[in-house]
Amino acid sequence: MEKLVIEGGRPLTGTLRIHGSKNAALPILAGCILVDGKLSIENVPDLLDIKVMIEILNAIGCEANHQDERVLLDTSSIYSHHIPEDLMKQMRSSIFMMGPLLARFGQVQVYQPGGCAIGERKIDLHLKGLKALGAVVEESEQTIICRAEKLIGADIHLDFPSVGATENILMAAVLAEGDTTIQNAAREPEIEDLANFLNKMGAHITGAGTEKIHIKGVKKLTPCHYRIIPDRIVAGTLMIAAAATGGNVELNSVCPEHLKALMHVLKKADVQITLKNDIIKINSLNRPKSLDRIVTSPYPAFPTDLQSQIMVLMSMSEGITTIKEKIFEQRFRHVDELKRMGADIRVNNNIAYIRGVPRLYGAKVKATDLRAGAALVVAGLAGKGTTTVEHIYHIDRGYVQIENIFKQLGANITRCVESPVSK
Ligand code: UD1
Repeated sequence: MEKLVIEGGRPLTGTLRIHGSKNAALPILAGCILVDGKLSIENVPDLLDIKVMIEILNAIGCEANHQDERVLLDTSSIYSHHIPEDLMKQMRSSIFMMGPLLARFGQVQVYQPGGCAIGERKIDLHLKGLKALGAVVEESEQTIICRAEKLIGADIHLDFPSVGATENILMAAVLAEGDTTIQNAAREPEIEDLANFLNKMGAHITGAGTEKIHIKGVKKLTPCHYRIIPDRIVAGTLMIAAAATGGNVELNSVCPEHLKALMHVLKKADVQITLKNDIIKINSLNRPKSLDRIVTSPYPAFPTDLQSQIMVLMSMSEGITTIKEKIFEQRFRHVDELKRMGADIRVNNNIAYIRGVPRLYGAKVKATDLRAGAALVVAGLAGKGTTTVEHIYHIDRGYVQIENIFKQLGANITRCVESPVSK
């Protein structure tokens, strides 16, 4: 197993381009199977989750090759509607295959994606939406089979603005007969990106990015070339890392509009931010100020995917901050690891109380999930001494060679293979 070894305490400095968004690329790659033909998708990051998605596409007969941030696909040879169980268990986003396969072939068989490290992560809203469009769903403890001779547009109200459910329903509805409305839809930028991609193929979607999405079903789509948006969570992680190390960093190829909630928080913490087109500059000289309260909620509020990283910054702030996690019930597993590094944090249900300390110290820690892992790297870069982060396969799901990202900004960080335990 690999680990990261970080010599902390150096301010990050320099310029960096932000890679494409994993969370936009995954549903878009699944959405490619709605059309028959050849497509090319650009700015696709070279990540573990993307590799799994390509293996899933290959497993159903779709040609898909990823090279130099471009995925070339030929969907004309798809022969299966059954996602293999081992691939399904590797990545929750395999659930995105449901809507498109159902819409194009009238049936799909997947396996229950199960819970994960950050919470239960149900899929009831995905299924409710597909049923509303006319799918017959057979669910067992292991499998989910959906069938529909044809999908028919419907008015769907989501009890919660789930990102994945909105995307799955959107993909199924583009080829349905008639009109569909998704009320209380998620508004994340990745949903707008998916809708832009589908519209480029000839779908009729309006309102993506708002809480009411309208889809006018079409009979057929036409293949296209599409470029994925920049990854706002990677950009946000780097902004926080720059602030936590007292650095001076310029990020290129970002969409500042997608990072408003984070910028608001960082400015209140006394971090200087300058914007120019698709460039964000972060400059931080002073110890960060604490904030009364940070609450994670659906977009455009503060994202749960930056909760663990902002906790690192607040751990080093002057004063006390509370962070309330409203999206996932088990998303404080990084707290024990941060405590090993000297952070003073107490958790009560879904609220963390953080008393800032003057500095964090290097320690041996474990990544418990993707964003928690990134947060520990940020803590290691900011802390004094040596930090070792283990279980970094979690981090590789969402950051392309995180050690190279930070090395480009002057960090002392190395990926090593953990030596086998001697007997
Ligand atoms: C997506 C992101 C993930 C991010 C999350 C919230 C991708 C690939 N992943 O995950 O990085 O952390 O949005 O911003 O885009 N829920 C239900 N029933 C459902 C679906 C969801 O109860 O059918 C609940 C979940 O358990 C969770 C909450 O809704 O508590 C949010 O989930 P959702 O918005 O669906 O997140 P994902 O799409 O899984």
